Amino acid sequence: MGYHHFIGNGLNRSEKIQAWIVNELLNSKIPNEKRESSIQWELKHSSGVIQLARLLAQKRNLNEELAVVAAGLHDVHVIVNGTYDNHARLGAQIAKPMLEQSGQFSNGEIKQICDGIGNHSDKHLYSSDPFVELIKDADCFDCFFYGDKVYDYKDPSVLKHYYKRIIKIREEAGLPVKTCFSERIKVLGD
Ligand SMILES: [Fe+2]
Ligand SMILES: [Fe+2]
Repeated sequence: MGYHHFIGNGLNRSEKIQAWIVNELLNSKIPNEKRESSIQWELKHSSGVIQLARLLAQKRNLNEELAVVAAGLHDVHVIVNGTYDNHARLGAQIAKPMLEQSGQFSNGEIKQICDGIGNHSDKHLYSSDPFVELIKDADCFDCFFYGDKVYDYKDPSVLKHYYKRIIKIREEAGLPVKTCFSERIKVLGD
């Protein structure tokens, strides 16, 4: 038998989480008018971050399966509640019992996933945990594909770290240099 394309009962644990995310968005009772980002965008963003987390996990030799789960759930608070306020920490609090109740992840895996989710908004901080940094970078990587100015609403002292990250990530991925990012860092001050 070939690939199941998410049909049937043969989904593995990470695929089940990915299907849950899509279902949660498609069945959400919170309309776009009451959301800070649309259901459509969250579908695109969660999917995009998952695939880019795979790419970075393979490049960095990190656990791809756990990266997929953390990437898919990184904005779970926004998916479930529609708001961004403190959504990283609150998202980890949603993911933890959900992963525990699935019975498919060890405590160590749940901690790793929830660390990735809970810290993903701290792009201005550089932790010693490569998995946490992977989730921040995958999020950043996807968002900058929606436009160079996608993070312009951020405080300038924080914004420059988004630019620093995307410069490094693009280099790591072998993508052409986009001078707009380094030019903006110069304006914002190093
Ligand atoms: Fe986020
Ligand atoms: Fe995000």
